[in-house]
Amino acid sequence: MSDTTAPPTLENIASLCKRRGFVFPTSEIYGGLASSYDYGPLGSVLLHNIRNAWWHEFITLRPDMVGLDSQILLHPETWVASGHVDSFNDPMVEDTVTHLRYRADHLIEKWLEQQRQAGKFDWENLVVEDLTIEEMAAFIAEHQLQSPDGHPVTPPKSFNLLFETELGSVMGDKTKAYLRGETAQGIFSNFKQILDSTRVSMPFGAGQIGKSFRNEITTGQFVFRTLEFEQAEIEYFFNPEEQNWQELFQMWQEAMWNFVTKTLGINEKNLQWRQHTDKERSHYSKDTWDLDYNFPFGWKELWGVAYRADYDLKQQQNHSGHNLEYRDPHSGKTYLPHVIEPAVGINRIFLMLITDAYWEDQANNRLVLKLKPALAPYKVAVFPLLKNKPELVNKAKEVFAKLSQNFAAAWDDRGNIGKRYLYQDEIGTPYCVTVDFESLTDNTVTVRDRDTTKQERVQVSELKEYLRQRMS
Ligand code: GAP
Repeated sequence: MSDTTAPPTLENIASLCKRRGFVFPTSEIYGGLASSYDYGPLGSVLLHNIRNAWWHEFITLRPDMVGLDSQILLHPETWVASGHVDSFNDPMVEDTVTHLRYRADHLIEKWLEQQRQAGKFDWENLVVEDLTIEEMAAFIAEHQLQSPDGHPVTPPKSFNLLFETELGSVMGDKTKAYLRGETAQGIFSNFKQILDSTRVSMPFGAGQIGKSFRNEITTGQFVFRTLEFEQAEIEYFFNPEEQNWQELFQMWQEAMWNFVTKTLGINEKNLQWRQHTDKERSHYSKDTWDLDYNFPFGWKELWGVAYRADYDLKQQQNHSGHNLEYRDPHSGKTYLPHVIEPAVGINRIFLMLITDAYWEDQANNRLVLKLKPALAPYKVAVFPLLKNKPELVNKAKEVFAKLSQNFAAAWDDRGNIGKRYLYQDEIGTPYCVTVDFESLTDNTVTVRDRDTTKQERVQVSELKEYLRQRMS
């Protein structure tokens, strides 16, 4: 992003995303569905590119990693074992007039921010994540916090985030089940099968990408926090007697940082590490760090890495009655491995990419999505200079057919060239190729660079190589 322009607001981002087919509000024709979004023609491709980049870097390129694709519906006992049925709660208050519910911690954070803006810094040392539900209740009562609609709220109550559903179609015979609240448990419950069916040895990891569901009651954060979202999670198993967990933890922090800054091209000044406090840490974790991104609504978690020790394997072993121990092929010793878990949301990566790439190029009076070419939904757009000249259209179609074999290519013959450039800039297409009258005689085309707006003549025969060299 340019340093000369102000960072985009969430409204700027949501507006671009809707206008250009990245993200649509779910079920808009029915008035929408809270905290739910659909990904449009371009958003679906960007998601796909993010998933591919993650899979390539963490599964394909690593000899110590394997992939997995477990179900959304797991045996319900899984969630009792994992602790989600008892402990996966958010503190909620209810507006006493509208009966809408809000996260108590979010209400307190918002109030603190308002105090800060009013020059009152009395609560600078307060860590909201550390407050118990009773402490939140006392804080809300003492400062008479209100709902966003300006009404009094009830004291906070614990609200379980797991989505419940039922298996079976016959009334009375139905069994309660849960839509998974994290993809991680599918990795733990398959641990033994992965060991038995592959050639892995310690330390090794299994990763998967898939949908998770949480009954989150949050508004106004766009795709940052939604009911249905996609996670990319890794469970990295190791022998705690042979391996120093801090070293592995650091190895994963570096791998995460490299992925975000190098592969995704995110500006380092918008990233920071934050360690969870003792009270904030999840019930299963011995140490947790978040890689936070400076989103339009402040520094928030993009990616977490937690040392879960043997909590999950032990829990799944105890509840299932199946031995989940690893047998060392050399010493014959058996043990429950410990695990380090880097867990990220694909949709949060999506929001970060659009935020970081959003650039108001005031010199050229245009809006540009400066995505890395490898991530952009289209790598190249092909235009015939004029739509009503069959010789130009035919030649441009030839160029399109050639390029689309190797690159995601867009075709555009609407409006004038200037408007086509503006459209492609807004959707992040790094190169635009125009076929004009000169192309018919010397077989060259104009290639225009998104970021510099510079144009070059390139031989059609060299176009593929020209683009290939610029696609990292
Ligand atoms: N297995 C560990 C786990 O699920 P988490 O911090 O709750 O940890 C991991 O989730 C990642 O999933 C987060 O860092 C975030 O990127 C993403 N995530 C969590 N809840 C989300 C939601 N409601 N909407 C979008 N992404 C979410």
